[in-house]
Amino acid sequence: MKIDVCVGSSCHLKGSYRIIELFKKHLKENNLTESVELKAAFCLGRCTSGVTVRIDNEIICSVCAENFLQFFDTHVLKNSKKAPTKGEEQETP
Ligand code: FES
Repeated sequence: MKIDVCVGSSCHLKGSYRIIELFKKHLKENNLTESVELKAAFCLGRCTSGVTVRIDNEIICSVCAENFLQFFDTHVLKNSKKAPTKGEEQETP
């Protein structure tokens, strides 16, 4: 999974640095640092609705410290559990 956090000027003013820190903390706590690639990105084109985050090809807007945990649960934890490896698929009866 690839996560890009917009650090364009509008999102920066809305707290993208804080969002990156929250990502680092929660990815570590959930042992996802190996499977998730976290990067900063330039403007993702949704400046009025920042902080903007792109997860793979999905754009999520209005991420803030207050809604981060719910956002992380919905878009990162649930998605990271969704894709089983081929070995797991074959074991299913
Ligand atoms: S500055 Fe973040 S979407 Fe434009």
